[in-house]
Amino acid sequence: MKRIAVMTSGGDSPGMNAAIRAVVRTGAYHGLKVLGIDRGYHGLIEGHLKPMGPRDVSGIINRGGTILHTARCAEFLEPEGRAKAAAHLKEHKVDGLIVIGGDGSYRGAQKLFEEHGVPCIGMPGTIDNDIGGTDYTIGFDTAINIAMEAIDRLRDTAASHDRTFFVEVMGRHSGYISMISGIAGGAEEILVPEQPTDVESVIEMLRKGREAGKRSMIIVVAEGDDAGDALEISRGVAEKSEFKDTRVTVIGHLQRGGSPTAFDRVLASRMGVRAVEALLERESGKMVGVSGQHTVLRPLSEAWECRTRFDPGLLRVAHILSV
Ligand code: ADP
Ligand code: F6P
Repeated sequence: MKRIAVMTSGGDSPGMNAAIRAVVRTGAYHGLKVLGIDRGYHGLIEGHLKPMGPRDVSGIINRGGTILHTARCAEFLEPEGRAKAAAHLKEHKVDGLIVIGGDGSYRGAQKLFEEHGVPCIGMPGTIDNDIGGTDYTIGFDTAINIAMEAIDRLRDTAASHDRTFFVEVMGRHSGYISMISGIAGGAEEILVPEQPTDVESVIEMLRKGREAGKRSMIIVVAEGDDAGDALEISRGVAEKSEFKDTRVTVIGHLQRGGSPTAFDRVLASRMGVRAVEALLERESGKMVGVSGQHTVLRPLSEAWECRTRFDPGLLRVAHILSV
């Protein structure tokens, strides 16, 4: 193992830069040449690889986004695209690849390994925390803190006007951001895609809140909720009930930007060291995760086969505390 490459792929997440820094510096520490791939699989297909040394990653541990840029690449879904990518890795004499991204990026890495024998290690970079094989993904902690801060701010204005707010947070297929930021922000109700909801049950909850003396309420909605997005739910509530004057805030991509928290920086740093050392140990087709206090290596397939489970216990906590 002499030359390794690193890329970020899929949706960006705060802490990806800390992860790149950790990979580049761990590589240098062990005497490896490290190449950075610009724009994920798209850049690999185009052959955009450049050498990176420890000074190229100075001053980025605190920066959101990814200096390597990221992309979603349809061409890589096809065997021809992957063959082009593998040819560039061969041309640059890359002995191992580290992919920082979500489970889609891992599926791509798995295929690169199976079809072209490229040793690959994954690092979980996504704000959704919906990857199996790890307790936490890089970026989740930052995202929930941004969402929580937004909820805090909205509560100030909601309380001042006796208003009810629907706050939409990210998570197409996962309600984790919604659950955690909702509990941390003291939300009256949390809607997640994993648990069926409808407008009627939201109205019922709002009425109970009113009867219990609440003059303003916050409902946190995961963007992928089956009852619709926050705007649709608020419109449905207005149509079918006396709650006509609610407000909707979609936090959106604000959750993906900004300086990563200490937790995400340290998580990314630990995972980066482990990922490079895994390649040195001739590991492949694995992802780095954290389990309790330890970093662990798991098969890449665990990422999508054992996605982070929905925890009804957390929703129960929110429910009890909103009495
Ligand atoms: P994430 O990694 O955040 O889950 P995506 O699902 O968008 O993001 O995946 C990122 C990229 O990984 C895709 O644009 C595609 O290039 C590649 N990819 C995703 N799924 C597959 C697959 N089944 N086979 C090959 N490549 C894939
Ligand atoms: O997977 C991360 C994520 O931010 C999801 O929470 C969200 O649904 C999606 O990416 C948004 O994707 P895009 O970058 O295409 O807007």
